[in-house]
Amino acid sequence: MTVEETATQVVVSHPSDASTSVTILKYGATVISWKLKGEEQLWLSSAAKLDGSKPVRGGIPLVFPVFGKNNTDELLSKLPQHGLARNSNWEFLGQTKSNPPTVQFGLNHKVANAELTKLWPVEFNLILSVELGEDYLKTGIEVENVSNDTMKFNWLFHTYLKIDDIEDTMVSNLVGMKVYDQLLKESFIDKHPVVTFHQETDSIYQNVDSDRLIQVVGKGVQLHSIKRNNLPDAVVWNPWVEKSAGMGDFEPKDGFKNMVCVEPGHVSDFVSLPAGEKWSASQLLYKDELKYQAIEP
Ligand code: BG6
Repeated sequence: MTVEETATQVVVSHPSDASTSVTILKYGATVISWKLKGEEQLWLSSAAKLDGSKPVRGGIPLVFPVFGKNNTDELLSKLPQHGLARNSNWEFLGQTKSNPPTVQFGLNHKVANAELTKLWPVEFNLILSVELGEDYLKTGIEVENVSNDTMKFNWLFHTYLKIDDIEDTMVSNLVGMKVYDQLLKESFIDKHPVVTFHQETDSIYQNVDSDRLIQVVGKGVQLHSIKRNNLPDAVVWNPWVEKSAGMGDFEPKDGFKNMVCVEPGHVSDFVSLPAGEKWSASQLLYKDELKYQAIEP
């Protein structure tokens, strides 16, 4: 069986190699594990709540319709940080392709977390597709505006990647990009050839061309390659010591050494989707050679 559904999750295994698999929790349609030839690629906190009592700390939580805590938009500002998709039970829509095995999950205003849809009374329809390749994982989202007005939203895949040691890790190919540092609350052009980590990092790289391949490199070896489609921004986040200590569901406390979030999204601006229209985007996680892309002239 390549797809196994239980009450709370769906596990998809690759038909040609069962040691390659993806597990998706129905709560938040959160990917909580992606194993490539037996090796886990994502970081998941050992204290992550998987019972629907709070968003999952780790894996690939889905951020919609707002990134962070908004305080300017009349409606979106009522929602908690990162919106309502990660705090809702999604419906499993079934398998749509046998090879590469692909499954879909759906969420709309009728089935989403009622406490939160009360705060953001907008009619929407989301379909998440999870495609498990022999050597990649692709997550795609389609947002449909089924209301009568233009819908404003952010989308982001909050991807927690597993690494060996944050101090030996670099994120490449973001040189020359405009970045908003959420800690300094300042924007600047990042002139560093690579992003390195020595303290808490929370940066939104903006309008990063889709042909920029973001790579996570550990001790000179490519660990993760991330391609983005229709997702112009990329958040790079590591909570470091103090922030991890303050998060009750972040364990082990030194787990920040083994994770880095690279989060493809559309978050600097809102997507404005006219009534009746659809918007789609995806992220592709895979392995590649090291490909350094120089700063644009
Ligand atoms: C990142 C944000 O995307 O998510 C950070 O840039 C935030 O500012 C982090 O701290 C985690 O958010 P949360 O709500 O899952 O604790």
